[in-house]
Amino acid sequence: MKRKTATKNLISKRKAEHLKIVVEKDVISRQPTLLNDIKLIHQALPELDFEQIDISSEFFGKPLKAPLMIASMTGGAVMAKKLNRALAEVAAAQGIAFGVGSQRIMLRHPEMTADFAVRKWIGDGVLLGNIGAVQLEEYSPQAISEMVKSIEADGLCIHLNIGQELMQKEGHRRFRGLVENIRKIIEKLDGRVVVKETGAGLSVEALRQLAKCGVKYIDISGAGGTSWTKVEMYRAPDRVLRQTAATFADWGIPSAFSIIAAGRIMGESCKIIASGGLSNGLDIARAIAAGADMGAFARPILVEFMREGKDGAAEFIKIVINELKTAMLLTGTRDISALKRAARVYTGELRQWLTDYKWLIGDEK
Ligand SMILES: Cc1cc2nc3c(=O)[nH]c(=O)nc-3n(C[C@H](O)[C@H](O)[C@H](O)COP(=O)(O)O)c2cc1C
Repeated sequence: MKRKTATKNLISKRKAEHLKIVVEKDVISRQPTLLNDIKLIHQALPELDFEQIDISSEFFGKPLKAPLMIASMTGGAVMAKKLNRALAEVAAAQGIAFGVGSQRIMLRHPEMTADFAVRKWIGDGVLLGNIGAVQLEEYSPQAISEMVKSIEADGLCIHLNIGQELMQKEGHRRFRGLVENIRKIIEKLDGRVVVKETGAGLSVEALRQLAKCGVKYIDISGAGGTSWTKVEMYRAPDRVLRQTAATFADWGIPSAFSIIAAGRIMGESCKIIASGGLSNGLDIARAIAAGADMGAFARPILVEFMREGKDGAAEFIKIVINELKTAMLLTGTRDISALKRAARVYTGELRQWLTDYKWLIGDEK
């Protein structure tokens, strides 16, 4: 019993530290997203009115007013309940999807369910649960399925965070069998699973492994935004971990490259979410033109919420929507499927990635 409470306290403390560090410290990767290297082509004669722009979309069989999601963040920390409720309300009001943070704490401490149980606040909107891939060896597919049901979520995000685990003293060191464990959960939940990274991106090789598992939703969460190796650097208890985390602070695959690779590898039946350093509606437009179906934000929303409360977070989404529509008018694209075919050029470092990695992504569609 004592050990159980100690684990709960440890997870709560860690989650609270994460929130504080992400808001107060420099946690941004110095590896750029390379989204700036996606140049959308200006159309001076778009033959469209602003009112005609249609950004409606679909996700987990439900309609979205905009192709956006508030990415998985928290649960288990002191302010998590308040944060999850506020973000669920923002998502409901804006007609976008919402994912809660890792529900790991709930599996051992069912009394923590209230932190994540936001169905009441999001109404009919898309709500996703969350668990780490490394936790899947500890819990049966049945237990995970019940965890998802207990918060009335539409599906589950399974996160991959090996860089972060390696920087934590208490983190996992065994990563064999993740693919098979993910496959079992996809089967158990009839495909209602998003496999997501957490800011280090998905490689061509990882995407192919996921495609083989039959994954229908992925979030590439690439490098260029919140760096979890860098976050852990501020928490490191000793010099070895602190220095290692500093060395790997900018580790990862730029978001733009992962988006393009996913678009070419995953096929039509897989929804691709772009996240990791996206900061505005133009980034969302670039990501969709490059191969994504929708975009997600984590840290930018959290920062808005901490500064300006729920209204600030809602305003941030409204700005993103206006910027996305502006980008669509300027590129002469009326709806999301037209935006996916928008004229574009890949330049700079992104072009280099695509050239050097070409033999791997080839002409796969
Ligand atoms: C405070 C905070 C907590 C997070 N916790 C989780 C989590 O529990 N589960 C998860 O899958 N991702 C988690 N993430 C990662 C985000 O979902 C996202 O993949 C990553 O931060 C990159 O997006 P960003 O650059 O917009 O922050 C967290 C992010 C933040 C900022």
